[in-house]
Amino acid sequence: MDVQWYPGHMTKARRMMEENIRLVDLVIELVDARIPLSSRNPDIDALCKGKGRVVLLCKADLADPARTEEFTEYFRSRGILAVAVDARERRAGELVRRYMQEAGREKIARDRARGIVGRPLRAMVAGIPNVGKSTFINSFAGRASTRTGNKPGVTRGKQWIRLGGDVELLDTPGILWPKFDNQLIGMRLALVGAIRDEILDKQELAVWLIDYLQRDYPGMLESKYLTSQDPAGAADAAQEETTGREPVQEDLSREAMLPPGYVMLLKIARARRLLMKGGEPDADRAAALLIDDCKNGRIGRLSLDRPQDAEEMEEERRAFTAAQEQEKEAAARKKAAAGAGSSRAGSGENDRGKTRGNPGRKGGQDTRGRSAERGGQSARGRSADRGGQSARGASSRKGGAKSSRNRDRDRGRQGRG
Ligand code: G4P
Repeated sequence: MDVQWYPGHMTKARRMMEENIRLVDLVIELVDARIPLSSRNPDIDALCKGKGRVVLLCKADLADPARTEEFTEYFRSRGILAVAVDARERRAGELVRRYMQEAGREKIARDRARGIVGRPLRAMVAGIPNVGKSTFINSFAGRASTRTGNKPGVTRGKQWIRLGGDVELLDTPGILWPKFDNQLIGMRLALVGAIRDEILDKQELAVWLIDYLQRDYPGMLESKYLTSQDPAGAADAAQEETTGREPVQEDLSREAMLPPGYVMLLKIARARRLLMKGGEPDADRAAALLIDDCKNGRIGRLSLDRPQDAEEMEEERRAFTAAQEQEKEAAARKKAAAGAGSSRAGSGENDRGKTRGNPGRKGGQDTRGRSAERGGQSARGRSADRGGQSARGASSRKGGAKSSRNRDRDRGRQGRG
């Protein structure tokens, strides 16, 4: 399954973060406790260089507590302050305030040494869409907050929230990985509701989830969907005895040939009486149900990232950050070369002006021609190379024949955060 995702407004959001990072002392990075690795914005390490950081594992009430504990330890072992919270609880705010003081300790000491007392600690709140940023800010801020965005002198869309005298939060729009080389990241993001699943093959996603749960949380699906503990399922199953179509021998022998995850999906469809005309189980509706239940924590407390994958995923993040840096440097070099090329071309023009038919004219044309050719080809070449991997590349691949207006509209429709 090819998951590509990066609505245009996220590029803007990223730029906004880049521009404002110098204004803050620390970054509060919100991740989804069910996928604390896959939901980390890989740009954040580069952005946060030299800043204090607190990682909040939000929606911890929906995650597997044992794994959340392991992940929290994992972050701490890497020198990052980490705390698991239910962002809806007011307690989360109090807890985070303590962690912020800790993360901002150096800054507070620096201020004191300079005789500055009482300057508020400023933090940027960052995280992927739907992770709980607004919820956290609301429960942290409560009534004591003042939203200071959209005032003269404050960039539109930039939101400062003042909390008492000692803390100011800068709210930022949610941003995601610009690309998912690792397609599993995209699937996990969809299963917690960070990206819309319309862009995915739902059956494939549901079967992936079933396989994962059967391995990591054996019995969870059965007890949720296939036993009397599931009131909805039990009621439907009872009804099915009289009205539904029981699987006949033919169905069962056909199902024996299917992958186990898909067979489970069909069982869920039957148990929930998600049937098509003629009584066949409706795999599409069962997939949609399962995905929705997963997003909303109705299957049970579960985590989709595994601590044992942390190192590998960190490696991926580092590779991603390095590639981003290289891309930036290449763009800067190209810009510089284009500037030099045009000034050389400019001098060719001058020569031509002075002496007609002088080789200077040819030189001017050559320079322009070469630089245009080189610039054009290499830029195209690079983006085409990347096209196989990048979101932008993918959208231009997919939407090759579309007008740019259509593409923008599509992106807008996909956008969530
Ligand atoms: P965002 O600003 O990062 O985009 O996220 P937001 O605060 O809007 O939260 C998204 C949804 O997640 C909200 O549900 C919110 O109540 C829920 N949520 C946030 N933090 C937590 C948490 O720690 N635990 C749980 N269980 N839920 C949390 P919603 O309003 O129902 O929105 P939706 O489900 O329709 O997206």
